[in-house]
Amino acid sequence: MEVKNRYTVIKHHIEDAPKESNFELKTEAFALSLEPESDDIIVKNLYISIDPYQLNRMKSFNSSQGTISFSVPIIPGETIDGAVIGKVVASGNAKFQKDDLVLGVFTWAEYSLVKEGNIIRKIESTEFPLSYHLGVLGFNGLSAYAGFFELCKPLKGEKVFVSTAAGAVGSIVGQYAKLLGCYVVGCAGSQKKVALLKEKLGFDDAFNYKEETDLNSTLKRYFPEGIDVYFDNVGGEMLEAAVTNMKVFGRVAICGVISEYTSDGKKASPNTLDIVYKRINIRGFLAADFLNVFEDFYTKTSDYIRTGKLKMIEDLSSGMESIPSAFVGLFKGDNIGKKVISLA
Ligand SMILES: NC(=O)c1ccc[n+]([C@@H]2O[C@H](COP(=O)([O-])OP(=O)(O)OC[C@H]3O[C@@H](n4cnc5c(N)ncnc54)[C@H](OP(=O)(O)O)[C@@H]3O)[C@@H](O)[C@H]2O)c1
Repeated sequence: MEVKNRYTVIKHHIEDAPKESNFELKTEAFALSLEPESDDIIVKNLYISIDPYQLNRMKSFNSSQGTISFSVPIIPGETIDGAVIGKVVASGNAKFQKDDLVLGVFTWAEYSLVKEGNIIRKIESTEFPLSYHLGVLGFNGLSAYAGFFELCKPLKGEKVFVSTAAGAVGSIVGQYAKLLGCYVVGCAGSQKKVALLKEKLGFDDAFNYKEETDLNSTLKRYFPEGIDVYFDNVGGEMLEAAVTNMKVFGRVAICGVISEYTSDGKKASPNTLDIVYKRINIRGFLAADFLNVFEDFYTKTSDYIRTGKLKMIEDLSSGMESIPSAFVGLFKGDNIGKKVISLA
């Protein structure tokens, strides 16, 4: 049987803030059966993860490209790959059966033809909504867990600052920090997000960074004695202000620098004298480097969700048509929590 498979491409490289017109929805004839000797797998995609790092792959050049296997350049007109959850429709590979639920690196499409190597794992448990495996129980959760616990080594009672705190990663970091007994302040780009952090996610305090004119004094106001741990999702001026406000032996995990993805404008230039004299440990990381703690992360996080101690904030859009606006929206602060496209 053959179906019409719709897939999303970029029309050309995107050098600054993305626009919906940069994308195109294409259609191709797609066979739902395999050749007898094939060991491929055909997957019907159910949930597509929408992530900021993809913009760096869409540029004609970006220093992230080629640093790790999932960061290869995206070629205009060709399929885009990313984290996707799907259901096996047909399999020539004995390890995968029809109707298995799989998480992997598949295409932004309704159907994907994949190799065994594209599949990260089977999803055996349906205890939680499937989409959670792209967010809180997937790479976003692992980023939060590894960056916060493994890199920052936080202690109960320490003062923690999280940027993009109402986003997929930030919302989980703040909740982990509260569960450990830290004092947590988050920043986000709207009053609605600030209210969510304080009223639903249990942050001790939160502020809208877009309403602040001097980030140094803002952080001084929220952390009069200084910051022990800064979980950075944005880079730029917020990183500079955080470094200025760090305590001696403070730790900074640089998870991402989204404020620097959309332009060649201001890059963070933190005060290096502060870094030396306050002996601040600043470290960038990728979640993929921490697969060794995945089981630990998954067990603890599932338990927190099961017992209602950790809330997953999701922002779902539906259908292939919604991919461009969902992706563009990440860079305008439209999403609240994990952005996922549902094709289910
Ligand atoms: N290291 C890793 O392995 C890893 C894994 C996943 C994600 N990341 C990184 O972590 C960060 C957060 O990713 P996410 O998936 O959780 O996305 P997200 O926070 O759910 O969504 C993006 C958010 O970024 C904020 N934003 C957009 N443009 C901004 C700007 N110019 N300045 C400041 N904030 C801006 C917006 O929130 P506001 O309304 O609050 O502005 C927007 O909602 C990104 O930098 C991403 O690249 C790293």
